[in-house]
Amino acid sequence: MTDRATQRLRNGTRTWHQALESTEFAAAMLAGTLPLDRYVGQLAAYRVVLEALEAELARATCPSVASVWSPDLAKLPFLERDLRHFLALGAVLRPCPAATEFADEIRHSGATELLGYLYVLEGSTLGALFLLRYVTEAYRLTDGNGTSYYGSGDRARWAALTERLDRALGEPAVQDRVLAAAERAYRHVALISAELSVGLGSPAPEPV
Ligand code: HEM
Repeated sequence: MTDRATQRLRNGTRTWHQALESTEFAAAMLAGTLPLDRYVGQLAAYRVVLEALEAELARATCPSVASVWSPDLAKLPFLERDLRHFLALGAVLRPCPAATEFADEIRHSGATELLGYLYVLEGSTLGALFLLRYVTEAYRLTDGNGTSYYGSGDRARWAALTERLDRALGEPAVQDRVLAAAERAYRHVALISAELSVGLGSPAPEPV
């Protein structure tokens, strides 16, 4: 009997997940020292990525994607709401080339590969749910303002998604392609995180 697709995805990307849990960006977020503009920068970067991914998933006509994607998985509205909140407070959004690169890859991918990206990005909201209290406290956010995306993780929705992925991705050769796409998604997220970490933890400049 072959392994379930999501079991393979979990095992095959475990090292990537561990690496992302221990980035400078994650450490600063957990310590409550991540500057607000980096948190907002991450939301803006994910907006670029999810705008591409959700549009491609909605457009795809292949049966495996159609059997997995459903509009209740869309995260873009949460990001839009959070970004509107921070923009109203005067936040300035800077471009994130690593996010644009990921979005370009998504737009040029095969339909099945989209499911690998979806696995990683939906799964990341489980981590975000764990991080929710840290960002709420660090930026003194109230009434869910600025935390819609981080608060959007949902274990029941995740369980339903993994069940649909397992049903759609029975073929080992197809699983291989989706796993490779999931690894690429992690790599892109790591590059986004590195871009958002520039200057973090560096010593204050010497006075001249
Ligand atoms: C400090 C950063 C992170 C922490 C603390 C964290 C934590 C977690 C936790 C606790 C879970 C399991 C939740 C559950 O089973 O209920 C999880 C799952 C997951 N996370 Fe993260 N995460 C982090 C960053 C990320 C990032 C950046 C990504 C990718 C963009 C990611 C992708 C995933 C995926 C795909 C799963 C589902 C794994 C599976 O069960 O197949 N995580 N994370």
